[in-house]
Amino acid sequence: MSYPFDAPYDCDRCPRLRSFLEEKKLELPEYYNGPVPSFGDSDPQLLVVGLAPGLHGANQTGRPFTGDWAGDLLYAALAEYGFSNDKYDKHAKDGLKLHGAMITNAVRCVPPQNKPVGAECNNCRPFLTDQIEALPSLKVIMTLGKISHDNTVRAMGLRLKDYPFGHHKTYDLPDGKTLISSYHCSRYNTNTRRLTEEMFYEVFADIRERLG
Ligand code: URA
Repeated sequence: MSYPFDAPYDCDRCPRLRSFLEEKKLELPEYYNGPVPSFGDSDPQLLVVGLAPGLHGANQTGRPFTGDWAGDLLYAALAEYGFSNDKYDKHAKDGLKLHGAMITNAVRCVPPQNKPVGAECNNCRPFLTDQIEALPSLKVIMTLGKISHDNTVRAMGLRLKDYPFGHHKTYDLPDGKTLISSYHCSRYNTNTRRLTEEMFYEVFADIRERLG
């Protein structure tokens, strides 16, 4: 399922990402290989914004963070803080349902080496702007990593210098929403202990407290 604010499957805004996906369709035809649609509650209070689909995770399964290393930590935290039915099992037909939360990515297509370039972030940003505007109950936006954070700030028409990224930095935005950033729950960040499970759960505890 996809939402009106998601990128269309045949989106061609980014030539490099489009040709990477075309290559992957030949190499890995059983994979989703398209802009990964947002997943979760259609009327969420919480929007989690990741970076971009992982090649063998979200790009394979067609669901954000699903099958990715980062998804193990993210979906466990969502379950722990009451945002899901706790059925995550690394594939899109596991029966997982989110309650009050939706997940998306700043860049909707898998980028080579997991690194989108600035122009790709810019091309994809209107989807995030439309999404934030289309969610009437949205109260908290959680961004994972600096690229996601900066894209979200810009998607909301705000200035980066007024909202610098930092782990567990919390901003009350002019429109009444709250922006909370976290280090990305990537394998690299968790292996190096830049982000521990405890640090990640503290951010979720804060979000849960704000949403009641
Ligand atoms: N999978 C996603 O969908 N997004 C990320 O940021 C990382 C893994």
